[in-house]
Amino acid sequence: MNKLEGKVILVTGAASGIGEESVRLFAENGALVVAADVQDELGRQVVASIGSERVTYRHCDVRDEKQVEETVNYTLHKYGSLDVLFSNAGIIGPMSSILELDIQGFDNTMATNVRGAAATIKHASRAMVARNIRGSIICTTSVAASLGGTGPHAYTTSKHALVGLVRSACSELGARGIRVNSISPFGVATPLSCTAFNLKPHEVEANSSAISNLKGVVLKARHVAEAALFLASDESLYISGHNLAVDGGFTVVNHSFSS
Ligand SMILES: NC(=O)c1ccc[n+]([C@@H]2O[C@H](COP(=O)([O-])OP(=O)(O)OC[C@H]3O[C@@H](n4cnc5c(N)ncnc54)[C@H](O)[C@@H]3O)[C@@H](O)[C@H]2O)c1
Repeated sequence: MNKLEGKVILVTGAASGIGEESVRLFAENGALVVAADVQDELGRQVVASIGSERVTYRHCDVRDEKQVEETVNYTLHKYGSLDVLFSNAGIIGPMSSILELDIQGFDNTMATNVRGAAATIKHASRAMVARNIRGSIICTTSVAASLGGTGPHAYTTSKHALVGLVRSACSELGARGIRVNSISPFGVATPLSCTAFNLKPHEVEANSSAISNLKGVVLKARHVAEAALFLASDESLYISGHNLAVDGGFTVVNHSFSS
């Protein structure tokens, strides 16, 4: 506990799923957190349920750079610093075949998952550089960032691009002492996955477990939040440019040979 004592953290996509769990875990570990999302009612409920003066909700659509800039400024004004960015907001996007690809839906997926992350990294890192903060930036990618066929086309494209953005930002920001990493989860039962496949949480978990490499553990949002806690904390002080797979080995094994 208290691995993040005194750190100020901005989390996007904080109203639900992995973001929500991360806000809870960061707060439990002593951080001051701005929880940003577009689902205002849900976001406020999350903050109220934590019941802490240390967590604040802020509306922010990451597709709108102005809102992103205002949210970073709000964080600086509210808590006086910005030590960690967890850029986690994401959508699954259109589920269609490439033959019927919804180009508008493709654009919206890229605008949220890639351009949104780029805008958030831009403004968060500007704040860190201006204040000489040796901060930590973390993005949520996916197993679909390294394997085709594990998600829809726009989603897979966006998550591959996000890994490129993380590496590129890492290459510039290292000189400023700022670390940039990502977390790459396997399937977790959250509103994103449940809605995409029109399944209940236990059904998503059953499907994920059926194709998982690591048996005996069901991946939960909390496990992903634990990885974010590690990358946010000083325990990962020399780790940068890394895409931390929280996938039980799924992306490094040949499934055709597993029993
Ligand atoms: N659930 C999974 O199986 C899984 C696996 C790998 C990666 N991920 C990634 O994890 C991240 C979190 O997803 P989740 O599974 O917790 O889903 P979720 O739907 O529970 O949470 C995503 C949050 O992002 C918010 N959001 C969407 N568009 C936004 C925007 N334009 N601006 C601000 N916020 C926005 C949503 O309102 C929601 O609260 C996403 O980047 C997702 O791609 C999820």
